[in-house]
Parts: sequence; C-alpha cells; structure tokens
Amino acid sequence: MPSITFIHPDGRAQSIAAGEGDSAMRAAMSNGIDEIVAECGGSAVCATCHVYVDENWIRKLGPVSDDEDELLEGVATERLPNSRLSCQITITPELDGLVLRLPERQV
Ligand code: FES
Repeated sequence: MPSITFIHPDGRAQSIAAGEGDSAMRAAMSNGIDEIVAECGGSAVCATCHVYVDENWIRKLGPVSDDEDELLEGVATERLPNSRLSCQITITPELDGLVLRLPERQV
C-alpha cells in the first residue's frame, strides 16, 4: 500500500497506509487525521479537506480542475500555489511517499 505522510500544523509527521484508488481525504479520515474535516464527504463542494502538497510532489499530481480551483478560493487558511483539496487526490503507486501538510483550520 502506498504511504502518505501528513505533517500536522505543530510539525509532527504522521505516516499512514493509503489504499490505491482511494482519495487522500478518505485515507486521512480512516486514520484519524483530525485536521481533515471533509464536510461534504468528497463531493468537492465544501473545501474543508484543504492540504498543502510538499513541493517535491506537486508536479506528480494531476492538474487542478476548474471546480477544484473555484473551491480553493474559499479555503479557510491562505491559498498557496501548492494548495489542493485532498478529496481530489487519488492515491496511485506513483504517489507512494507523498507528503501533505495540514492547515491550522478548515473552517
Ligand atoms: S471533502 Fe468536501 S471538497 Fe473535499
């Protein structure tokens, strides 16, 4: 199973196993990553699953869709060039080792 490392706002790193085909959001929720709220359950309408993708990984993700781009305008913390919605990141073997930083708040 691919591994994802979440970096909590306090700098603590937490690595979890993520199922292929799952979203990073689902993997986080299944592993008790509390900073991911995911109010809409992955329907891409809430923007409460915001993460900052480690710069070494940003080019390995697919492009931001128009819908995701629009939602990222409404995230609770500053939108940065590496901001993504974790429900829109699908885990593949190529993403083994992905590092995602968690924002301080989602709402
Ligand atoms: S879970 Fe709602 S937009 Fe990602």
